[in-house]
Amino acid sequence: MSLYEHHMLKEIMEQPGILAALAKRSRHLLEERGAPLWSGEVAGCERILFLACGTSYHASLAGKWMIETLAGIPCQVEYAHEYRMAAQLPLENCLAIGLSQSGETRDSLEAMRKAKEAGARTLAICNVANSTAIRLAHAAFLLEAGPEKAIASTKVFSAQYVATFLLALHLGLLRGRLPAEWVQKQLQQLAALPDKMRQVLENDGFVKEAALVLREATQLLMIGKGPAFPIALEGALKLKETAYLHAEGFAGGEFRHGPMALIEPSVPTLMLMPALPSEGFELMKGTLGEIRKSGGPIWALTQKPLEEEEGVRAHTLPEADIFLSPLLLVAPLQLLAYRLACSRGLNVDTPRALCKAVTSDPTSTP
Ligand code: G6P
Repeated sequence: MSLYEHHMLKEIMEQPGILAALAKRSRHLLEERGAPLWSGEVAGCERILFLACGTSYHASLAGKWMIETLAGIPCQVEYAHEYRMAAQLPLENCLAIGLSQSGETRDSLEAMRKAKEAGARTLAICNVANSTAIRLAHAAFLLEAGPEKAIASTKVFSAQYVATFLLALHLGLLRGRLPAEWVQKQLQQLAALPDKMRQVLENDGFVKEAALVLREATQLLMIGKGPAFPIALEGALKLKETAYLHAEGFAGGEFRHGPMALIEPSVPTLMLMPALPSEGFELMKGTLGEIRKSGGPIWALTQKPLEEEEGVRAHTLPEADIFLSPLLLVAPLQLLAYRLACSRGLNVDTPRALCKAVTSDPTSTP
């Protein structure tokens, strides 16, 4: 019998082990030029098109940031359902990546078929062996995160994140942009991440406190920049899906272009502040200061101390490389969604209006 009452909690807690297993597989990147990781040719592409829905879409946005930064290959991320409706444009020298937990999401499969017809090579990054996505694609990466039983995806997001990180390293190596020693260091940092994530999951006082305060809240704004932006979107999605809290994720810079008007004393904001490169962290601090002036309660998950910021409830996360920090940010947000859903007496494993894989189109028949 499981130690945990709910699948969702069990799957959140499994994440350090999943990261460790992926870190182990990552040795192939250097030893065998990545070949055993991708069952096919992914190297010759000049552009990448990600096609996905839901949580997998957010992992795709993170993948875009990493591949563009590390491999210098232009990436485009499309909601699979929108891509199905878009004009059919040729996709020469393009790798279309279908990211999907189940490998059975209808929109993602149709989008992959369309991309294939347009001339793209296709790669499925998926958690289910022998799923339609895996059979459909030219190449595949099986996440091997174990069955995900809770409807809301948690552990697979982290596995997808690592898979796209490894792909970014692989492509960066092949293109001669990344020295092997630097990649080796990244892989060492990946191997050290499970312990850090365990620490984040165990040190959950901040999450418990936030869940208590948010119990009666009707909305939450979540802000991230760069690699933390997809995490803000994903954290907000988890809160909507499982705790039925209206939460929205915003990009830090975009917040001043309208959303700032939402701030008032009853509207809490959660700032995601990894140690961003160049002036990114300072810009986030600037946004935090502007929100504070407007009087909203502020919470922050940060990798740099924020003591001087009065009126901010900050929680400091362990240090990690910027390519891995998003994984330390997403874990407490998943836990927050779980705890808030439990404190609201909701059915966390089978929330309303959600199914594990959306395998059909919407129908007008009642
Ligand atoms: C459903 C699930 C989500 C998932 C999305 C995409 O809405 O409830 O958790 O993110 O489908 O699913 P996929 O299996 O393609 O990743």
